[in-house]
Amino acid sequence: MKIRHYINTIALAGLAFGIVSCGASGDHPGYEYAPQMYNSVAYEPLTQIKNEDEGQWLSSREDGKGEFFNSNPNNPHGMNMREPVENTVPRNNNGYLPYRLKAFELEKAAELKSPIEATDEVIAAGRVLYQQYCATCHGAGGEGDGKAGEVVGGVANLKGGAYIDLPEGHIFHVIMKGKGRMGAHGSQIPQERIWKIVHYVKQEIQKQ
Ligand code: HEC
Repeated sequence: MKIRHYINTIALAGLAFGIVSCGASGDHPGYEYAPQMYNSVAYEPLTQIKNEDEGQWLSSREDGKGEFFNSNPNNPHGMNMREPVENTVPRNNNGYLPYRLKAFELEKAAELKSPIEATDEVIAAGRVLYQQYCATCHGAGGEGDGKAGEVVGGVANLKGGAYIDLPEGHIFHVIMKGKGRMGAHGSQIPQERIWKIVHYVKQEIQKQ
């Protein structure tokens, strides 16, 4: 009986401790089990603890600061991630700037020249991309006879009439921003790929 009483007392004490330690309020999130798991040693880009003493109680750091202090002392305001220099413009891996012309600025776009050369490789890549993105409407040969085109209706025959003489910048812009019944593809196809498609359309479909 005595042992049972002993066990009950321990269980009760454990339960009481459990309930108390689950408490959390306001800024106090409660006690953490293995806090190193929640506080990264590496700098984190989006969270920052500026208080040098935070986690001092379990610190094993050589610089004597708290275990959880994770601000970068070398950056302004102790920031972990630096802000880009003012007026910085994002470029992608291939050095392309964001495309700024609006859908209605087709005339300006017509003056654009392709930044990539129409090598055999580029045209071969353009052929694959054309089949993926354009053939559904414009047809494999560009004659406006794709299956989806039948539903959309009014698809341009890239081999016919005035379309033959379209400048490359014009075609680029139409793919990027759309025109009339054709939707914009700029959000789906990166710029350099669009230029590859343009080369394929000009060189192979329109034989220009
Ligand atoms: C969902 C069907 C559809 C897809 C996909 C599509 N087009 Fe079109 N395209 C059209 C239609 C419809 C028109 C006629 C637009 C109009 O004048 O209303 C058109 C027109 C054009 C024109 C003529 C633009 C002008 O100035 O009149 C070009 C060039 C062109 N498309 C190229 C492409 C290329 C290249 C692709 C692949 C990246 C593509 N299209 C994908 C439906 C499509």
